[in-house]
Amino acid sequence: MSATAALESRAWPALAAVLHLGELTPAARPFVVALAEHPQLPQRLARLAQMLRDREQRKDALLVAAAARELAPHDIRVRVLTEWICRRQAPLWHFGIVHDQLRNETYARALRHHVRPGMTVFEIGTGTGILAMLAVQAGAQHVYTCEMREDVAAAARAIVARNGMADRITVISRNARDVKLGVDLPERADLFVSEIVDNTLLGEHVLPLTELARERFLKPGAPLLPWHVAAMGCLVSGSKHHEHYRMDTVMGFDLTPFNRFSPLELNAGKGGGGNVEMLSEPVELVGFDLRHDAPAEASHALRLVASQEGRAEALMRWLRLDFGDGIVFENRPPQQSSWDPHLHILPQARDLKPGDALDVEIGHDRSRLYIIPAAADSGRA
Ligand SMILES: C[S@@+](CC[C@H](N)C(=O)[O-])C[C@H]1O[C@@H](n2cnc3c(N)ncnc32)[C@H](O)[C@@H]1O
Repeated sequence: MSATAALESRAWPALAAVLHLGELTPAARPFVVALAEHPQLPQRLARLAQMLRDREQRKDALLVAAAARELAPHDIRVRVLTEWICRRQAPLWHFGIVHDQLRNETYARALRHHVRPGMTVFEIGTGTGILAMLAVQAGAQHVYTCEMREDVAAAARAIVARNGMADRITVISRNARDVKLGVDLPERADLFVSEIVDNTLLGEHVLPLTELARERFLKPGAPLLPWHVAAMGCLVSGSKHHEHYRMDTVMGFDLTPFNRFSPLELNAGKGGGGNVEMLSEPVELVGFDLRHDAPAEASHALRLVASQEGRAEALMRWLRLDFGDGIVFENRPPQQSSWDPHLHILPQARDLKPGDALDVEIGHDRSRLYIIPAAADSGRA
């Protein structure tokens, strides 16, 4: 009798329903089989998951932890013991982004505007499945959505089923790079939707992943939602950067050598922003038309011109996603969002009058954006 059949014939058939032994490495299977009849099975599985994680058997640990949680969803002990294993799989920002009303409504509006009845939609990055479900609501005949995190994909499937859309949404539990046309996705889709933009704009690989979608999974000319992404910015004063991230003399000791670790870029929403005041008009720092391939590397110079007097301490940067026909998301402060604006600290604060200019170099390598403020005076515009 195989290990799986043995397990299924025992007193805990529920375990076989939440954990397929074949997915575990052979080294981990005997541990699970040995526990199958234990009266405190979920707790023991939680302990086993910890042991597997300590041994760097990460995938096994995650599968076992997920099974423990599935068997005892309300057992606080099981949840606490497996929290640090499972959290790696589903980042906490998922909770933040789905509560971002402006984000959700902008995507919903874009989908309602662009989806035509009978269309098939392809998505990279299912998460909770919220965009896939909005696409179905907008009239899509079928949505194929891929998610690289197995646990997140499993949760998305449960959500889709719970919302009665299992026959309209296929969650593909794979990295987009491994999705196969003709296998996971029957044919090229009519429309692409994604939200693979992080606070840094490019860090979640929106450029290469959208290119991949265009090349492999979409019909020629299929609408892209969004079709253009950009970093916007302006000069600001009033940053609390120096208060939070500068060391001088503390308790009589000179701590200034520690300032070598003072961040050059920081999240303006979390202890560095303060009540910043904009000193120049917002401009597009860099933008990408996702309908075309981006170069491997590029940089350009940009001149920011002060529109009012003040002490420029940083360049503030935020995001703009364009969905076409005037449907745009922008988290320009004071607009709150799950995406936070960032500050790029100037090497030296500069006192500016209207018309004074400051040059910056803006570059990218498709996955990272860099902004280098000019050290010297850029003079008048
Ligand atoms: C910012 S979340 C968006 C989730 C959901 N679409 C939403 O809007 O709430 C991005 C998701 O994409 C997934 N992801 C990132 N890169 C991926 C890739 N190469 N293939 C498949 N999924 C990916 C992440 O695991 C994450 O769940």
